[in-house]
Amino acid sequence: MVLVSSNDNGNAKKVLSKLAKGNGHGEDSSYFDGWKAYDSDPFHPIINPRGVIQMGLAENQLSFEFVEKWMKNNPQASICSVEGIDEFKDIAIFQDYHGLPEFRNAVANFMGKVRGNRVKFDPDRVVMSGGATGAHETMAFCLADPGEAFLVPVPYYPGFDRDLRWRTGVEIVPVKCESSNNFKLTREALETAYEEAEKSNIRIKGLLITNPSNPLGTVYDRQTLETAVSFINEKNIHLVCDEIYAATVFAEPGFISISEVIDNMNDVECDRNLIHVVYSLSKDMGFPGFRVGIIYSYNDAVVACARKMSSFGLVSSQTQYLIASMLSDDVFVDNFLAGSAEKLAVRHRNFTKGLAQVGIGYLKGSGGLFLWMDLRHLLKEKTLEAEMALWKVIINEVKLNVSPGSSFHCSEPGWFRVCFANMDDSTMDISITRIRNFVLQNKEVTTKVKKQKFCWRQSSLELRLSSRRLEDIMSPHSPLPQSPMLRATT
Ligand SMILES: Cc1ncc(COP(=O)(O)O)c(C=O)c1O
Repeated sequence: MVLVSSNDNGNAKKVLSKLAKGNGHGEDSSYFDGWKAYDSDPFHPIINPRGVIQMGLAENQLSFEFVEKWMKNNPQASICSVEGIDEFKDIAIFQDYHGLPEFRNAVANFMGKVRGNRVKFDPDRVVMSGGATGAHETMAFCLADPGEAFLVPVPYYPGFDRDLRWRTGVEIVPVKCESSNNFKLTREALETAYEEAEKSNIRIKGLLITNPSNPLGTVYDRQTLETAVSFINEKNIHLVCDEIYAATVFAEPGFISISEVIDNMNDVECDRNLIHVVYSLSKDMGFPGFRVGIIYSYNDAVVACARKMSSFGLVSSQTQYLIASMLSDDVFVDNFLAGSAEKLAVRHRNFTKGLAQVGIGYLKGSGGLFLWMDLRHLLKEKTLEAEMALWKVIINEVKLNVSPGSSFHCSEPGWFRVCFANMDDSTMDISITRIRNFVLQNKEVTTKVKKQKFCWRQSSLELRLSSRRLEDIMSPHSPLPQSPMLRATT
């Protein structure tokens, strides 16, 4: 008997629902292709030193020493330890979708601390979800019907295509932001996107912004946040703010939460029923595996609906219990937040210094776990095809999984997101060396080819290359044949 795998395409077509077999997950994109390339050839300093280095994963792995120390000092926080065993039964049977009160208190307190205690959060408005991923789907489900849409400034985190759209039938309408303006969100861009949607009979139900931005690493200034608030109030649509990177800000300008902005507005300027915050501990604490996602809505109906929905993605009571203990420890939280920001600042400084040495620029930002790297000068031509060609070289030859701007829906070719906080110092050094070699080899190729062209023109032999010169370019001892850029541009 021949067994057919359930992953088999033909079989999937027969078995799965229309929604399930569509490409709603977005797996067929360069963003996920890069991860697959890493998975099939992962870098390891000893076992696979020539493997692909993962720079496509926005993970915060720099501050685990603080957490590990706390865990050692607080064994009772785990119900699976001798010290915590007395709580085991009560926690194991807990299943109320409101969540443990101490968990909601600790999260509300932590959210306030992350925002410099300039704003307070009400624990009764804290709703759990399976990471920010689950929170976004819940928000889309609560606020829009199938076929209705959210405005989302581009470039944006590719997961939104899955989270907002796949199971809800909700759409995304991109709001164009441009490099000439440092990708800032403007009132004009919002109006244009809104009007175009109206012309296409698409009903806009909300605006989703990510602050600090993934992939840009920039924070929204107060004026832009106020612009967003007045825009959504005038249109009477919702504003969802993804603040998942709130505590990854390591330099000036600092982070301003939407909650601070609306606290300074009156009821006419802002209807608070339209404002919702999505949060998670995946980035700020570096715990994506714990799936602690939070919806914080100023709208009672949304809080009630999201809470009912949270049955689909509850945070396990064991995790709630641990997080409640950890985040209630004010001394730990203060040290962690300061220490984490410091480590991110150092890593960012070292990485950008390495890039600057080979003339690679990036969009100036003060937060996030990544850089929006400018490789426009390395493109053969200003097209998205050329961007893909360059990306393929970077992943297959330079062996770095960075993500091309097009996977974030950026329409200007040549931008790449590169993550810098998901590896140790020595892996980071290797990645910088690889980038440096790549750029230097490319420079050599360009210079040599230019010289050759000059030489040919001089001797009026424009298209004829002597075998001597060909050998020179293709010599196995020169870096040129291995030069990835040579392949990218051919
Ligand atoms: C902007 C943004 N929102 C949401 C998520 C999903 O986070 P979580 O792991 O909490 O589901 C990510 C993950 O990269 C993200 O960058």
